[in-house]
Amino acid sequence: MRIILASNNPDKLREIREILTPLGFEVVSQSEAGCHFEAEETGATFLENARIKARAAMEATGEPCVADDSGIEIDAMGGGPGVYSSRYCGDSTYEETCQKIIKIVNCSDDRSARFVCAVVCAMPDGGEISCEGVLEGSIGLQYEGENGFGYDPIFIPKGMGRSMACLTDEEKNAISHRGQAFRKFAKKLSEYMENGETKE
Ligand code: IMP
Repeated sequence: MRIILASNNPDKLREIREILTPLGFEVVSQSEAGCHFEAEETGATFLENARIKARAAMEATGEPCVADDSGIEIDAMGGGPGVYSSRYCGDSTYEETCQKIIKIVNCSDDRSARFVCAVVCAMPDGGEISCEGVLEGSIGLQYEGENGFGYDPIFIPKGMGRSMACLTDEEKNAISHRGQAFRKFAKKLSEYMENGETKE
């Protein structure tokens, strides 16, 4: 089954293809589907933002469109940057932003953090599938690792002694917030195709 990803972010497209292709889905980016805009993320939650992006792409293409919205919640920053994760960098690089976060977290006793991913698929018949994945962990003492993207070099998944950026794509997908959310999504989508409805 062909499904359109309401994003043109190549890192996300790569990760999501790696998760959904073995499960039998052909994942096409929204630009490949002829849709050349990205909806503004005006929601207050990951779920609201994913819904905004999925619906806008579905209305533009008339095909099932899936969107994710994700980010990092850092307890020493009151749960921030959260839905502002991509905008939090401003004009700085991710490496500079990660170093800034390490300094902020070093002033606190609490290094706990989590990656969250909400996934919404908008169907042309008005139906919707939604799910969420969460990966708990902590902010590392240093920036380390070459793989992944964004905040991976400072995020240590719970029970691991190294950052997410030290994992291969395969190892990351097996545990990540996005991997969890998209595997739940693939299961719900199969049920939807069989029954025409979602099951919570
Ligand atoms: P959005 O979901 O495109 O709005 O942006 C999510 C932002 O959260 C990314 O640009 C990254 O800054 C951060 N983020 C989300 N998932 C990950 C991840 O797996 N690793 C590192 N950073 C992530």
